[in-house]
Amino acid sequence: MSDIILGIESSCDDTSAAVLKDEYLLSSVIASQKVHERWGGVVPELASRAHLLNIVPVIDQALKEADLTIQDIDAIAFTRGPGLLGSLLVGTSYAKGLSIATGKPIVEVNHLQGHILSCLVKQPGKENVSPAFPFLTLLVSGGHTQIVRVDGYFEFEILGQTIDDAVGEAFDKCSKMMGLGYPGGPVVDKLAKEGDENKFKFNLPQISGLDYSFSGIKTSLLYFLRDRLKENQDFIEQNKADICASFQKALIDILMKKLILAVKQTGINRVAIGGGVSANSGLRSRVENEGRKRGWQTFIPEFRFTTDNAAMIAISGLYKYRRGEYCNLDAPSVARASQMQ
Ligand code: KG4
Ligand code: ZN
Repeated sequence: MSDIILGIESSCDDTSAAVLKDEYLLSSVIASQKVHERWGGVVPELASRAHLLNIVPVIDQALKEADLTIQDIDAIAFTRGPGLLGSLLVGTSYAKGLSIATGKPIVEVNHLQGHILSCLVKQPGKENVSPAFPFLTLLVSGGHTQIVRVDGYFEFEILGQTIDDAVGEAFDKCSKMMGLGYPGGPVVDKLAKEGDENKFKFNLPQISGLDYSFSGIKTSLLYFLRDRLKENQDFIEQNKADICASFQKALIDILMKKLILAVKQTGINRVAIGGGVSANSGLRSRVENEGRKRGWQTFIPEFRFTTDNAAMIAISGLYKYRRGEYCNLDAPSVARASQMQ
C-alpha cells in the first residue's frame, strides 16, 4: 500500500502545497508573494495576510493536479518551524483544521530538515538519483548557512554553521546596497553572469573549523562601494555586473572552502546542496566542477526544489508518518529551530 502525503509550507513568503505518493511527487504548487518587492524585504504582517489568501487555492490546486481528493490523503505534513510566526500559524492552523474535519493525522516538519531531505523527492518517469547515507548537505538560505552530516532520515549533525549572517542575507544586502531590488540573490546571480569575477577583490573571513561568517564581507562591500562612489558617482551603474560577479565569487569561495574541508574531515564524498541560495548558478557549477575534480558524487536540486517548497515538507512528513510520529492538535508553531525536537 502506498502512503499519500499532503505537504503544506508557509514559513516565510511562499505558500506551497504538494502531494507525494511514497517518495514520488504527484503535484507541487508554489505561490510566491510579490507584495514584499516594494519594501525591499519580507514584511511579516503582509506575508501572513498573503498566506491567508493563498492557502486554500494552493492546496486545492495541488490536490487537483494530483487527481486526488482530501479523502485520498493518508496524512497532512506541515512546517511547524522555524520561520516567521505569523506565516507559520497560517499553515499550522490550516493543517489542524483539515485534520479535525477529515480525521487524518498531522505530522510536524522542521523546515531545515525539509531542505535537507528535499534531495530524496523522486519524480515519476525520471531517473531520480538520490544520495545514500551518509551524505553532507550544504544548506544555504536566507536564514541559514550550515554544513550538515546526514546519517539517516532523522539523524543530522551540524558540522559547521554561520556565526553571524546567512549567505542569502549577504546576497540580499549586496543587491540592496547597489539599489538592485529584492530578492537580491536572483538579481545578483543574473548580473554576475555578464561580469568579470576577478575584477574586484574582497577579503575573505578567517574563521576556524567548519563555521562560516558573512558579516565582515558585507561590511567590506559597503566600504568598497562608499569609497568608489566618492571618486565616481556612477561607479555602481558602470560596474554593476563586475561587482556582482566579484562579490558572488567571494561568497562562493567562502562556502566552498569549508565544504571541501568537511569532505576531507569526514571522508564522506556524497555532497548535496539545498536552500534558496542553491539556486545560484555560480554555486551550482562550482559544486559540480569541484565534485568532478575531487571524485565527489554531487546532488544539485532542480530549481523548484531550492527555494521554499512543500515537496520537501511532504517527504520529511512521509518518513515521520511511517514511524507513527503524529503531532498533537495543541502543538504551537515555533519561530526558532531550537524550540523543536
Ligand atoms: O530557502 P529560501 O527560499 O528561504 C529561506 O528559508 O530563507 O531562501 C531565500 C534566499 C534569499 O536570500 C534569496 O536571495 C536567495 O535565497 N536566493 C538566491 C538565488 N535565489 C534565491 N541567492 C543566490 N542566487 C540565487 N539565484
Ligand atoms: Zn527555506
